[in-house]
Amino acid sequence: MNSREEIALELDEVDRRARSLLDDLDESQLAVPYSRGINPPIWELGHVAFFYEYFLLRQLGGSEARMPGYDDVWDSFEISHRHRWTPGVVPEKERMLDYYCGVLGETRARLANEEISDHERYLFRYVIHHHHMHIESLLWGRQTLGYAPPIFPGAEREVPKSTGISGDARVDGGEYFQGMPPLSPGVFSFDNERPGHRVTVEPFAISKTLVTNGEFLKFVDDGGYGQESLWDFGGRCWLAEGPGGSREMPEYWGRQEGGTWQHRKFDRWEDLPLEAPIVHVSVWEAEAFCRWAGRRLPTEPEWEAAARGLDQKKFPWGGEVMDASRVDMDGRLFATAPADAFIEGASGAGCLQMMGTVWEWTSTQFLPYAGFEIDMYHYMSVLQFGDHRVTKGGSCATCSSLIRNSYRQAYLPGRTDAFTGFRTCALVT
Ligand SMILES: [Fe+2]
Repeated sequence: MNSREEIALELDEVDRRARSLLDDLDESQLAVPYSRGINPPIWELGHVAFFYEYFLLRQLGGSEARMPGYDDVWDSFEISHRHRWTPGVVPEKERMLDYYCGVLGETRARLANEEISDHERYLFRYVIHHHHMHIESLLWGRQTLGYAPPIFPGAEREVPKSTGISGDARVDGGEYFQGMPPLSPGVFSFDNERPGHRVTVEPFAISKTLVTNGEFLKFVDDGGYGQESLWDFGGRCWLAEGPGGSREMPEYWGRQEGGTWQHRKFDRWEDLPLEAPIVHVSVWEAEAFCRWAGRRLPTEPEWEAAARGLDQKKFPWGGEVMDASRVDMDGRLFATAPADAFIEGASGAGCLQMMGTVWEWTSTQFLPYAGFEIDMYHYMSVLQFGDHRVTKGGSCATCSSLIRNSYRQAYLPGRTDAFTGFRTCALVT
């Protein structure tokens, strides 16, 4: 996404996805009940349009505000989360769409008519990536609310088959590169990925596959949620915050009469696919599972080492270009493929589905790298430093154009609404 034509195509794509997520919701569905992990869809689209307007059209292009007095409504750090539900604060759908379409129209005109500088190219990529990030939050919002899954045009795809791959990959110790090099015209990254640096990693063994529903079910059946010694203090507090003061299973699991396990995918309950990776688990659940299984979570440097190798691959399979046919991303399969599928996306170490499927929990707190410099959007990273956990690799709901091995996503440890899962490491190598 470097030429004006590529940027224009990506803008069209993210716009098409965003609009399709709005267009198939009726008025009652748009009036979403308050929930901590989601936003009203109308606010979410107004917010992404504000990024284009504020950074590209106003700051760079000198345009006037299209909705005077609404900066504080569309800027997520000015409006409290709760106020996004206050009647009369967020405009109605038609007015928001008028703003959204007007801003994107002006953005397209700027892209078509004027040569763009390297700085502007960076800004275009930044706001389009931000747009994509909100597509993912709209998708986990649909899961939270029990709405239908999205139907993105051209997204149909056959579920790849099981390969029988299992066990651990051994990863050599050594000096690995972590993060991204300094910004240059053709290389985009976010502030939290910079500055790239070398990190020493001891030899370790990491599972080739993500933890599956079937593996996690054994932990549930063994009473793992009730074994206090498996949960540390944060995990025990999180359990106590569950419905009725406890939890006994993952967020979207349920048991039918007769004992059949099911899980809810969007608006449907389905029999639990045992061979598919588990999704929507907190890091507390991932760590309790690890203790039960005699395993541990990878650190972020270990995860990157297993994905990148010593030759600093940008993507697990090598090369500088994302290949969406090798991954479950872009809202196509939603983690329905077996954990041992997608051999074409394997890392050099032999790990499958490191890109896509689920954001993989690590044991690493989300903190800036030494020498961190804040980006143009001051709040992209800094508000999450310290109390969030690093997740890696993107999920089935992440846009494939957003991600690379060095990408860092951060979630609070108790989040289960996002598309999170995990793989484990051996305790002894
Ligand atoms: Fe945002």
